[in-house]
Amino acid sequence: MALATVAALMAAVGGALWLATRRFVGSSARQLHGDLGSGLMQGKTVLITGANSGLGRATAAALLRMGARVIMGCRDRARAEEAAGQLRRELSSPGFMGSSPDPGSVGELVVKELDLASLRSVHAFCQEMLQEEPRLDVLINNAGVFQCPYMKTEDGFEMQFGVNHLGHFLLTNLLLGLLKSSAPSRIVVVSSKLYKYGDINFEDLNSEQSYNKSFCYSRSKLANILFTRELARRLEGTNVTVNVLHPGIVRTNLGRHIHIPLLVKPLFNLVSWAFFKSPMEGAQTSIYLASSPEVEGVSGKYFGDCKEEELLPKAMDESVARKLWDISEVMVGLLK
Ligand SMILES: NC(=O)c1ccc[n+]([C@@H]2O[C@H](COP(=O)([O-])OP(=O)(O)OC[C@H]3O[C@@H](n4cnc5c(N)ncnc54)[C@H](OP(=O)(O)O)[C@@H]3O)[C@@H](O)[C@H]2O)c1
Ligand SMILES: *[C@@H]1O[C@H](CO)[C@@H](O)[C@H](O)[C@H]1NC(C)=O
Ligand SMILES: *[C@@H]1O[C@H](CO)[C@@H](O)[C@H](O)[C@H]1NC(C)=O
Repeated sequence: MALATVAALMAAVGGALWLATRRFVGSSARQLHGDLGSGLMQGKTVLITGANSGLGRATAAALLRMGARVIMGCRDRARAEEAAGQLRRELSSPGFMGSSPDPGSVGELVVKELDLASLRSVHAFCQEMLQEEPRLDVLINNAGVFQCPYMKTEDGFEMQFGVNHLGHFLLTNLLLGLLKSSAPSRIVVVSSKLYKYGDINFEDLNSEQSYNKSFCYSRSKLANILFTRELARRLEGTNVTVNVLHPGIVRTNLGRHIHIPLLVKPLFNLVSWAFFKSPMEGAQTSIYLASSPEVEGVSGKYFGDCKEEELLPKAMDESVARKLWDISEVMVGLLK
């Protein structure tokens, strides 16, 4: 009885807040991507990892609309082709993000296979990129795994560290020449505020001694930030910039490994509808860093809601960043 009352009350409050948030955030998101950005990415090639779902998919939709040639780097070709088909249909139907754009100014979508849990796949993907793509203007390291049970990648790395950090580390290094020859160009790294709960424990990077799935997610997202800062230092004077962001809490498929009891599910759904961002709202900072003239020349910075934010000292530790870089080079076989 009391429980039902509390649930009903929460539903009412949640519902009201949901409407309020939608109206607020929804309108600012529309404003950002009205006709302002149209044509901004014409002639530019963008690679987005994990572009078939959630934030990556929304980022692809927006940049495509701005005229970019968008390469979707995805591990499952069928899922990626399906997402690409949907994106093309949405783009040609009016009412999607306001009016439908001039068909002549819309970019092109390309699907390529990329499994970040396999160094072999990353190498094959990059070889194909270098053979087929004359330029790369923006690389968006977006794909991610969140709090999965203990698993290893093809090469024996703990899955979250392996995909979120090491796979992207190799990918970025192999594409750096192309990014440099396309300069001014940009690298955008999707991290998370949860980096705060991580540490780079060099003595057990594959979590063979103990596995804590939340710690490992946070560690991988801290690694994303340290990687960004070290790379920015290495790229000084090249006109290739690299910045990192946190998207906020977004309604995506990221929670696939989190088990929510059946009875709690409706409440969770309500809360997520009320308080979480939609994928398009969550993707705003990725889109901003990839396309806005405002951040031209800006590098090594951390962003949230399209604004620069402060980092905890542990994410700015240069010696940890260098050590992580050196060890990553050895782990992915760049240094033999
Ligand atoms: N959602 C949030 O609240 C939130 C908050 C902070 C940070 N983030 C970050 O945002 C990024 C995007 O996540 P999302 O929320 O959009 O989640 P999502 O909907 O689950 O999308 C994740 C994407 O990564 C791909 N991926 C996973 N493992 C891969 C692998 N081995 N190789 C290639 N691609 C792989 C997935 O492919 P499949 O579809 O084939 O699995 C999917 O396309 C992640 O880096 C995440 O850490 C999200
Ligand atoms: C796992 O890691 C998280 C985040 O680092 C920490 O808060 C939590 O206490 C850890 N859990 C266990 C069982 O050690
Ligand atoms: C970087 O861009 C500036 C301004 O466009 C240009 O003068 C400079 O030569 C570029 N540097 C490199 C290394 O490409």
